[in-house]
Amino acid sequence: MELIKGNEIATSIIAELKAEVATIEGRKPCLALVRVGEDPASVSYVKKKEKTAAEIDVDSRIILPPVTISQAELEALIDELNADETVDGILVQSPLPAPLDELAIFRRVSPDKDVDGFHTINLGKVAQEDSSGFVSCTPAGVMELLARSDVDLRGKHVVVLGRSLIVGKPVALLALQKKAGANGTVTICHSATTNLAQITQMADVLIAAIGRPHFVTADMVKPGAVIIDVGINRIPDATRKSGNRLVGDIDFDAVSPKVSKITPVPGGIGPMTVAMLMKNTVKARQLRATG
Ligand code: GUN
Repeated sequence: MELIKGNEIATSIIAELKAEVATIEGRKPCLALVRVGEDPASVSYVKKKEKTAAEIDVDSRIILPPVTISQAELEALIDELNADETVDGILVQSPLPAPLDELAIFRRVSPDKDVDGFHTINLGKVAQEDSSGFVSCTPAGVMELLARSDVDLRGKHVVVLGRSLIVGKPVALLALQKKAGANGTVTICHSATTNLAQITQMADVLIAAIGRPHFVTADMVKPGAVIIDVGINRIPDATRKSGNRLVGDIDFDAVSPKVSKITPVPGGIGPMTVAMLMKNTVKARQLRATG
């Protein structure tokens, strides 16, 4: 079994981006990070994004509206950022607290600043195989990790667990694309799928993105498969100072001896998501410079 080291691969992408940012004339790229509320996972993700941006000389602007912000006020804030010529990318950290309408907010972000790739136009471009838009960071991270680990999806059965807008649907579309590294035969499984284990057992490449700790057990995977674990779940652990630990959707200890390649949690897909966000932000800056 080979461990796919997302940490190391993300570090080299970050280094490549840093060199690229250094060549940008004038204003450095600027990413606006909007976080509403104090969800602990969101707090830590936004911190990580801010820290990585600083490492590569990308400016970040952290905006922390109160949890009581209304839909109209949040939309007005997005409009301001859309109109601000010094902002290249806008990210609204998900999940937004109720009763805010997250999808309406994602769609409010100008498509040319939508570094999260959640806008209808950018998701549509993924479906149309038009690379001029922004691809969502986690799905892009999965594809980049596969490419840099010499996993070609051509002729392979790719099974995606989960149909979310943030991961499941876009990663399935990317794996399906008619281009080098992709061309997979894709099955998407979800909460209404019957005989799930029969399907996952046929996967040459299994991508799990359902947010259920240790959901995929050893009996569910084909010997020699490639396993991409997108899940980041906090489970109680009394032996840790924090009282919890991060685990994926895959039962790593049981599954890893059986497979050819697997991503760990943490240190697998997580750092790749941040690296792809930076890549999209640099792209947004360059598109604004030339567009
Ligand atoms: N929450 C979990 N993943 C993501 C992501 O990629 N982008 C945003 N904005 N929120 C998230």
